[in-house]
Amino acid sequence: MSGTATIRRAALNDLLAVYNIERQSFNHPYGLVVFLTLLTSPSSLFLVAEDAGKVVGYAVARVDEGSALLLSIAVHPQHRRRGIGALLLRSIIRQLPEEVEYLDLQVAVSNRVAISFYEKHGFEKIRIIPRYYKDGEDAYLMRLALTS
Ligand SMILES: CC(C)(COP(=O)(O)OP(=O)(O)OC[C@H]1O[C@@H](n2cnc3c(N)ncnc32)[C@H](O)[C@@H]1OP(=O)(O)O)[C@@H](O)C(=O)NCCC(=O)NCCS
Repeated sequence: MSGTATIRRAALNDLLAVYNIERQSFNHPYGLVVFLTLLTSPSSLFLVAEDAGKVVGYAVARVDEGSALLLSIAVHPQHRRRGIGALLLRSIIRQLPEEVEYLDLQVAVSNRVAISFYEKHGFEKIRIIPRYYKDGEDAYLMRLALTS
């Protein structure tokens, strides 16, 4: 369970911790500048999970008119499997504007943990995007239909 983790909007002070988690979580991490851009963009929804005063996870989505794209979600390796990822994902979904009809994401076809995490939250595989990643790996486009 998530214990004492709380979710709040990301701030400038959180970016190094976010970047650190990103680097420990992905083979091709986003750079710090990408996170800075996302933090200052009005179309981003950027949340962090904090536990005992430490940032232990984050999720960031880009919101367009009728849809949204989950750009990244990660939990620090030492804090996984305690419900923090679920807390972050549910918070993103809850904070999307009402007119958003679906939330999309791309996930590497080999990332079985993330795929099962998303399926548990109602996402469905829509199609394969061939060679989506720099190393040539395919991605699934997954989608959660939102009903108000
Ligand atoms: C995906 C991720 C964010 C999940 O965060 P988390 O805090 O561990 O997730 P939760 O504890 O909320 O897990 C919820 C569910 O996801 C699935 N899940 C999570 N970790 C799993 C694992 N190691 N094996 C199988 N299923 C897993 C389970 O269904 C789990 O529910 P359960 O614990 O009741 O079985 C985390 O594993 C992570 O940061 N991975 C690396 C980054 C990444 O791949 N992000 C997604 C990129 S598209």
